Amino acid sequence: MTEFPDPARFPARFAWGVATSSYQIEGAAAEDGRGPSIWDTFCRTPGKVLKAEHGDVACDHYHRLESDLDLIASLGVNAYRFSVAWPRVLPAGRGKINPAGLDFYSRMVDGLLARNVTPWLTLYHWDLPQALQDTGGWPVRDTASAFADYSALIARTLGDRVGNFITVNEPWVAAYLGHGAGVHAPGTRDLAASYRAAHHLLLAHGLAVQAIRSVVPQAQVGITLNLAQSVPATDEPADVAAARRQDGFLNRWYLDPLYGRGYPQDLVGLLGLNSPQAQGTVQPGDLETIAAATDFLGVNMYSRDVVQDAPDAPWPHARTVKQPESEYTGFGWEVAPQSLTALTLRLQREYHPAAIVITENGATYPDRVTPDGTVHDEARTRYFQSHLAALGEAALGGAKVTGYFAWSLMDNFEWAEGYDKRFGLVHVDFGTQVRTLKQSGQWYRDFVVQARQPKGSFL
Ligand code: FCB
Repeated sequence: MTEFPDPARFPARFAWGVATSSYQIEGAAAEDGRGPSIWDTFCRTPGKVLKAEHGDVACDHYHRLESDLDLIASLGVNAYRFSVAWPRVLPAGRGKINPAGLDFYSRMVDGLLARNVTPWLTLYHWDLPQALQDTGGWPVRDTASAFADYSALIARTLGDRVGNFITVNEPWVAAYLGHGAGVHAPGTRDLAASYRAAHHLLLAHGLAVQAIRSVVPQAQVGITLNLAQSVPATDEPADVAAARRQDGFLNRWYLDPLYGRGYPQDLVGLLGLNSPQAQGTVQPGDLETIAAATDFLGVNMYSRDVVQDAPDAPWPHARTVKQPESEYTGFGWEVAPQSLTALTLRLQREYHPAAIVITENGATYPDRVTPDGTVHDEARTRYFQSHLAALGEAALGGAKVTGYFAWSLMDNFEWAEGYDKRFGLVHVDFGTQVRTLKQSGQWYRDFVVQARQPKGSFL
């Protein structure tokens, strides 16, 4: 049974938003001076993306900016999370600036402000300029300093109008899925390289925090992690240990250094020669840079991991197992709203972030526009209802939650899954680019409008 969220449980000053990312929606991949990114290359590598799809056109957002901004405003939100495509503003990753690229984001920011929507800008949502991959990509240290320069450029150009910056989106995905499992760009399968990449992504975050603050001292800066509660499948010691490894692999490896504790020693030991320490990747001063104070922790939460020991499985030798009594989304991810409460309360208790912002949460289901002109996505509506109820619980329990962004504004290019997996509040017909508000989008809009009312009006 779905619990309904109570809008009164959320603080009065709250970012209610929808989220997207550049490569997933923009299209115009080779227009107006944009350079290629690792995702352009990856999509053209046979066998990497379902049906060999790519982001050349995607939602054609680059050409539909104004009407998409109207769409965002029509959802009643007061915040929009988007990402800047690094190769659109610096086609070779560093050096020559592409004014047309900067102008696109400048128009976007102005258009949001004109509609009373606060921009939340993500600097890195996985579209690394190919030129930087060609010089080694994230496994090399120099990429982190290129990122700091790019961050300063964006802060100088947009910092007069943008107050909220997210440095890196989901370093675990970029590092591990990109370099360890090889299922995301750049597609290498090398565990040691994935830990070098992870360290440089965290270093890039720390350097960007400094760069942004030196240009825009009043900016709110944070990083977004993909986090999931890790629960042992049984209380057998082997499963309990596996759940702890999984928690280290996904959560603690990033949280601990960001909050000044250094890398978790249990994991460093287990990783042996694959650890960044053993590879000489961690240099003096890096941990201080990574632990720079931030204004919020961005959390992307979709599901939880119920974990079994799996000695034969690749690192971290843990396997996620299905729960017969649970519901699953179209990705096969367990719907586990109670886990959002537990996760945010744990973050508050163990890491004391200045604030927690849910920067992504959502679900994919096979959707269909029916003859009545809408999408009856009851399962997605229930997903949002139950997760917002769970977040309200966490807020009541003391978690300093200050924002929530639904993933996603509209259906888009879902990475290795191509266009098959739809996450939007708005349905996109990729043949015609027609946008249709889904039932979940109607529900979210109505909820947000209510939640944004002055609190006294609930009495
Ligand atoms: C997250 C990504 C986002 C989207 C969702 C479904 O890992 O940040 O771009 O793909 O998953």
